[in-house]
Amino acid sequence: KDNKNQNLRCPIVCVLGHVDHGKTTLLDKIRKTRVAKREAGGITQHIGASEIPIDVIKRLCGDLLKMLKADLKIPGLLVIDTPGHEAFTSLRKRGGALADIAILVVDINEGFKPQTVEAVNILRQCKTPFVVAANKIDLIPGWNSKEGPFILNFNEKAQHPNALTEFEIRLYENIIKPLNELGFDADLYSRVQDVTKTVCIIPVSAVTGEGVPDLLMMVAGLAQKFLEDRLKLNVEGYAKGTILEVKEEKGLGTTIDAIIYDGIAKRGDYLVVGLPDDVLVTRVKALLKPKPLDEMRDPRDKFKPVNEVTAAAGVKIAAPELDKVIAGCPIRIVPKDKIEEAKEEVMRE
Ligand code: GTP
Ligand code: NA
Ligand code: MG
Repeated sequence: KDNKNQNLRCPIVCVLGHVDHGKTTLLDKIRKTRVAKREAGGITQHIGASEIPIDVIKRLCGDLLKMLKADLKIPGLLVIDTPGHEAFTSLRKRGGALADIAILVVDINEGFKPQTVEAVNILRQCKTPFVVAANKIDLIPGWNSKEGPFILNFNEKAQHPNALTEFEIRLYENIIKPLNELGFDADLYSRVQDVTKTVCIIPVSAVTGEGVPDLLMMVAGLAQKFLEDRLKLNVEGYAKGTILEVKEEKGLGTTIDAIIYDGIAKRGDYLVVGLPDDVLVTRVKALLKPKPLDEMRDPRDKFKPVNEVTAAAGVKIAAPELDKVIAGCPIRIVPKDKIEEAKEEVMRE
């Protein structure tokens, strides 16, 4: 294994946006999964998580990666899916707070809606940088949408002039203008000069796959850049995380699904959970990792038992006494001599 890259942290990417603007379908397209189609009422009700390995990103981006001025060194992306329904503000906040970078999904035809504005305000509060995925471009009248880079499909050879005009109108009226009104400079990503000052908009279709390479290239490139700038690229110390869900599992009893956003979790170490007015300390019996590209909340494959998990990652944890804990609680996974330190940390959160 390449020693130099061993400690690079996998960035956390949170996907936010109004209900039905296509967040889950977009992730399904990237993962080749069918999570959205199996959701009750077509509505996401929980936070999801899945890991996209770097080789998959590189393969999907292809030649487009030459647009990046740097080599990708991150081990992949941990993508967090959130619900867009108005009832789930707390889940959006939890997702937004975890993220190193966010993808704000906006239906380019519908434009900004209440939960789009709410998401922007959450990201502003958390100081989380974001890009906009301007989704459903296949529904722009006359647009000839096809799988692959948007940038190669955005010209007079590929599109009728009326479709190009309609695209520019929707891009401006439905996305750039409302973002300006919220205090953000924004433009089509290929027209952006300074990514630290202007929000990049990447047109996509979750149905045809158009723009997916552009989106992954920008998100991977920006995530790496922002992490490097904040010197948050190395994984160090014990694991810090947050509980997504508490679940009964056959043979394991009560387990938690958690996101580890920093550090390394080891089987046999102590799990410290901050409860509303107590702290639980218990021993980690098993760490189980979902397969790459699998959605944690709706996996195709069995989770794999592992001895160690490095941030950022989604993980299922089995331990005694987990029936006492609830979603949203902060956790630490620590060796014995760090239990007191961890207790103080989770009590402060
Ligand atoms: P919530 O999680 O419930 O907020 O919704 P979501 O943002 O995850 O949207 P979802 O993936 O459930 O998609 C909503 C509907 O839009 C589904 O019927 C999708 O098939 C459809 N859809 C999503 N993306 C596209 C797209 O790019 N083009 C078209 N034509 N339809 C899309
Ligand atoms: Na939906
Ligand atoms: Mg969804």
